[in-house]
Amino acid sequence: MNSFENFINDYELTMIDSRIKDAMVYALDGGKRFRPSLIFSIMDGFGAKREVAYHSALALEMIHTYSLIHDDLPCMDDDDYRRGKLSVHKAFEENTAVLAGDGLLTEAFGVVAKDEGISFEKRIKIIKYLSSLAGVGGMIHGQLLDLQSENSTHVTDEMLEEIDDYKTGCLFRCSLLIPMVLVEDEEHEEFYNMVGTKIGRIFQIQDDLFDVIKTQEETGKPSNSDSKNAKATALSINSVDEIRKKLNKEFDEIYNLLVDRNFNTEYLRNIIKKIEKR
Ligand code: IPE
Ligand code: IPE
Ligand code: MG
Ligand code: MG
Ligand code: MG
Repeated sequence: MNSFENFINDYELTMIDSRIKDAMVYALDGGKRFRPSLIFSIMDGFGAKREVAYHSALALEMIHTYSLIHDDLPCMDDDDYRRGKLSVHKAFEENTAVLAGDGLLTEAFGVVAKDEGISFEKRIKIIKYLSSLAGVGGMIHGQLLDLQSENSTHVTDEMLEEIDDYKTGCLFRCSLLIPMVLVEDEEHEEFYNMVGTKIGRIFQIQDDLFDVIKTQEETGKPSNSDSKNAKATALSINSVDEIRKKLNKEFDEIYNLLVDRNFNTEYLRNIIKKIEKR
């Protein structure tokens, strides 16, 4: 991952200096990079060069990072810490945070458009995935459902699945679909789409759990943010024990899906193991 981090730093050097750029660079730093890691794991599994995916992986990480900057704003979850340091609207100003989010989102499409290592056709396909899965029919829709769920008196499993599939699952699906474009494998798109949805679901259930059981030192962001905002989360309808059992079952299900495939899923399994152990 070091060489991908260098790629991010090099790309940042190409951006015009400004306070917004400073906030964008600040925000990008320190993420766990699970979405890029998933992209690279599929490239590895297909025996393709990781570097071919660097632009697309950066674009996805930029979109994810913008979603976090906006997610922390006072009008959203109102959280003051992220990635182990002050949230962007606290380290800078609120208006700078809004614009840094806008900047990352806009820049992301430029990063893919400028990727001279892949064909125009692949660039367009990747841009289509990014815009549909991050957009108003994707992650943004999930953020809306999440906000609308605040103070719900009747939370259901179906409601949580819908929120999680959109707000979190969509970008995870994107991280498995982008490499399908890069390695020109349409045959397995449906399979990876399904795996991405499953990863998104368990990732958000873990996140809901960690909000309650982990400390800010461990997660890098404030604990008990969800109860502060009366969010509908896995904890609204399940005990900690029930969630742990559910997670074990869901991880087993994913591992079972990955065995007996006539292509190499070992690298992907290793990243999912990292998600399980986080
Ligand atoms: C946080 O994502 C937002 C959720 C979908 C729960 P990550 O836990 O991947 O955040 P970073 O990128 O490591 O900061
Ligand atoms: C956010 O979910 C998912 C996004 C699309 C940003 P959360 O609001 O639970 O994420 P954290 O806990 O703030 O990282
Ligand atoms: Mg949120
Ligand atoms: Mg939040
Ligand atoms: Mg959370």
